[in-house]
Amino acid sequence: MTIKCVIAAGGLGTRLQGFRDNDKTKVLLEVNKIPMINQQIKQLNQWGIEEFVIITNPNFDSLIKEVTSKAFPDISINYSIQDNPKGISHAFSKAEQYIDNGDSVIFVLGDNFFEENLIQEVDFNKFSNEGGCIIFTTKVDNPNEFGVASVDEHGAVIHIEEKPSEPKSNLAVVGLYIFDSVVMDNIKKLSPSSRGEYEITDLINLYINEKKCNNVEFEGWWVDAGTPDRIIELENLLI
Ligand code: G1P
Repeated sequence: MTIKCVIAAGGLGTRLQGFRDNDKTKVLLEVNKIPMINQQIKQLNQWGIEEFVIITNPNFDSLIKEVTSKAFPDISINYSIQDNPKGISHAFSKAEQYIDNGDSVIFVLGDNFFEENLIQEVDFNKFSNEGGCIIFTTKVDNPNEFGVASVDEHGAVIHIEEKPSEPKSNLAVVGLYIFDSVVMDNIKKLSPSSRGEYEITDLINLYINEKKCNNVEFEGWWVDAGTPDRIIELENLLI
């Protein structure tokens, strides 16, 4: 049983252009003097993850390779370019060549940070036997800004919706997911949404339809560091 971790780092982060003279890409922005992508690898490596695939932006691929390989010479990191910004599931599909049958795949959005180790309770042996997907949620006051999940009393996910105007719950789906290796075939079944993107929520819906999606609800802080305010908040939390 192998656990591989795919980090989506292809988004430019338009809301962060110009912040602290940033003219590069979001994941290269320094968070407490360490590039965000390295903070992310550090977080995940502390959780015990040792094999990574980073999905990069074509304009910053070599810079991301340089920055990460220099900081983590002993960690296995592969890279794949997301040539077009066609959504989170599209970014994920670029990892296909590195995912083998039977792998458990943790997919992380590069700007999502957590107080706790979210995967510490996951039994990966059981997960790799059963397959499916696991999402992680936390209660928020502004669910309409995120993916929103409805869950039954056993923790099975029964519904998920991307940024709904009328959310069915206050459970925000955070940017860390665990999938079986069938995920790479499942992505090929998706069509673009009304905003022209291959949505992560549509991918999860394929698993919900097969009754193969479970939820882990967690406490503790979560930061989706996509704006200057959130970066500053994250810096204070990571101290
Ligand atoms: C993405 C996902 C959304 C999720 C969020 C978490 O949204 O599409 O489902 O709740 O990340 O950070 P984005 O932040 O790209 O708008």
